[in-house]
Amino acid sequence: MSHASMLGSTQTLQEFLPAEQCMPDFVTRRMDRHYVTRIEQLLGGEHPHAWQPTPANAVYLAGNDYLCLAGEAQLRYAQLAALVQSEGELLMSAVYLQQGSAQHALEQRLAQWMGAQDGVLTQSGWAANVGLVQTLAGPDVPVYLDMQAHASLWEGAQSAAAPAVGFLHNDLAHLAKQLARHGRGLIVVDALYSTNGSVAPLAGLVELAERSGSILIVDESHSLGTHGPQGAGLTAALGLVERVHFRTASLAKAFAGRAGFISCSSRFKGYFLSESRPAIFSSCLLRHELAWLAAALEFIKQADGRRAALHQHSRYVRSHLTALGLNVSDGSEQIIALEAGLEPHTLALRKALERHGVYGAMFCAPATAKNRSLVRLTLNSGLTAAQLEQIVQACDALREELDWQNWSSTRRLQRRSQVSVSQPRVVRYHGGYD
Ligand SMILES: Cc1ncc(COP(=O)(O)O)c(C=O)c1O
Repeated sequence: MSHASMLGSTQTLQEFLPAEQCMPDFVTRRMDRHYVTRIEQLLGGEHPHAWQPTPANAVYLAGNDYLCLAGEAQLRYAQLAALVQSEGELLMSAVYLQQGSAQHALEQRLAQWMGAQDGVLTQSGWAANVGLVQTLAGPDVPVYLDMQAHASLWEGAQSAAAPAVGFLHNDLAHLAKQLARHGRGLIVVDALYSTNGSVAPLAGLVELAERSGSILIVDESHSLGTHGPQGAGLTAALGLVERVHFRTASLAKAFAGRAGFISCSSRFKGYFLSESRPAIFSSCLLRHELAWLAAALEFIKQADGRRAALHQHSRYVRSHLTALGLNVSDGSEQIIALEAGLEPHTLALRKALERHGVYGAMFCAPATAKNRSLVRLTLNSGLTAAQLEQIVQACDALREELDWQNWSSTRRLQRRSQVSVSQPRVVRYHGGYD
């Protein structure tokens, strides 16, 4: 049927336009800020995340599959076997899962591996963090967030209608000051920060939490699988498992799946499932997703060789980029930030790297502060010596071309070397994600 014949005789095409094309100006103005002010005027019409298909021989550094699990045949078969099973799925929220379900069994195995009594699988790391903070905080329970804590943790504070109190990145003295001012609450950090690969001072955070009578939540999304004994995370590596109240993680990083996890007690789990809005009002994971995660867990436990390779690659790239004068000193692990600063400079950096066959991910507002956008190079265990060399050579080649002396990270390094070490370093909130 033609469009015209679908219209009644008195209707015009104008009247039949979909509602979305006639939106009020309070929306169109916001959309114009994105399409006109940012994409057209600031970035010359190029979207920061619009990619051409990556060439087969590219060095791809934009994914979080740290241990290269995605291509593993045994994981794929485990998932396939679950897909072809004939039993029906529970297309409901996890509250309705029966005792002894595959999800409960996997929760027990994950918890045991992490040294916890129990745990909850959630639909994503986002759902884990929002749901957890929402069930613990409230208008009279402040949430202390590292300025670089993941956006989902900030969202949790908002969801709980709790005061969100930021503290300077990894700055224990500032956190102590904030605690003294606002009283006990929730202290919320990432174990390994997602934009620059910096590591939280977990031992000091535990002490502050204990001294102030606060709860400590550690998001291990970027360290679970990659750090600690059998990959059980940084908290486990430091022997702090019993002193951290909750650990959360996205299982879309080293597990290469789609889910989130919270380590907790069995008693808390029962409370969480009845109080967390993402748990109650959103459906649970599917059987084939659980099958992937169960197979991934066994794989990860045995993956000491891949973990060692990943850490070695991080040291190699970091030390060579440092020798080139690039400031990667904000972090120490497998996530490496090349911080050009302003978005047009960062877009140019991303494209220059691509011309050298290296594909990183551009991170900009709201994942970073507006003037601190960066290209994130995410290393993985499978990189070859030639690929590592290619990364270093690409960075070497593009420095002059891109005026790296004027990048925000280079200027910061220069300032730091001039400023006395006793002065505090100010880090602004960027609500980093992914
Ligand atoms: C530190 C951190 N926490 C939570 C999340 C959210 O995880 P997911 O992608 O599984 O929702 C991410 C990833 O985006 C992350 O980097």
